[in-house]
Amino acid sequence: SMLLVKTVNELKDELNKIDDSTNLGMVPTMGALHQGHMSLLKKALTENQNVVVSIFVNPTQFNNTEDLEKYPKTLVDDVDLISSISKNIIVFAPSIAEIYQDRVKSKIYDFAGLDKVMEGEFRDNHFNGVGTIVEALFSLVKPKRAYFGEKDFQQLRIIQKLVELQKIPVEVIGCEIVRENHGLAMSSRNERLSPTIRQNAAFIYETLKTAKHKFGMESVLNVKDWVAKQFKNSTDFKLEYFEITDVETLTPAKNKNIKIKYRAFIAVYVEGVRLIDNIALN
Ligand code: PAJ
Repeated sequence: SMLLVKTVNELKDELNKIDDSTNLGMVPTMGALHQGHMSLLKKALTENQNVVVSIFVNPTQFNNTEDLEKYPKTLVDDVDLISSISKNIIVFAPSIAEIYQDRVKSKIYDFAGLDKVMEGEFRDNHFNGVGTIVEALFSLVKPKRAYFGEKDFQQLRIIQKLVELQKIPVEVIGCEIVRENHGLAMSSRNERLSPTIRQNAAFIYETLKTAKHKFGMESVLNVKDWVAKQFKNSTDFKLEYFEITDVETLTPAKNKNIKIKYRAFIAVYVEGVRLIDNIALN
């Protein structure tokens, strides 16, 4: 039967009952679950005997208190959604005190520059917070495999680096971006958009797809200029960044090298909501 545990002690009791702990998968989340999260969970269920989903809105990764306060909390619905696909899942939803005791602070990591660009540049200390919570969750759950979405591609690369740095014996598995029908990448923050803007936000993914097409023929600079221009004409959508980087180091590309794999990344502000997306270019 599906289990909701809220304390580390309860979690440990449940993990001790698992007979094959060499076959444990984990899906870390902040809740307000949607089909993007569920795709990670479904993949974890096909590859592991047992799965832990964590639901924890991690304060140390928010640089903006308003964003933290507004973050949707829907634990009852989340547990219903999870139990609708399988009863053999442990949901770990701890309190802040349970995880951080009385010291709500992040560790400082050396992510070899992966944290200095894009989300790291515009969200101060964000990835130290992500690293801190994911390292803590890994050490509590000790999963064999952990699932992360390419929706947060930079985060995925940070987690891979974290595991390498801290020598954590877990396989980090990246999962494709799940989109709404019209193309907007699914996100808990989409709920905060008005219906019209949510529909119009398909424009973000349309822009990425055209940028990908142009990248095949034009210079990096031309593609970036073209994207910037699309946003100049928009009153609702404000471009925070558009970047083309190689997938390994995430350093912004200047010229194209056919031996390197590139990705385009975008962050957009609309109706006070920050949306991110990315696309593989080659
Ligand atoms: P959260 O935003 O809840 O996302 C949890 C996981 O779901 C992440 O790995 C994210 O990339 C993935 N995800 C979200 N939307 C997706 C989509 N549309 N398609 C595919 N995957 C998607 O990311 C976090 O929480 C936190 O930073 C966390 C890793 C839990 C640490 O606090």
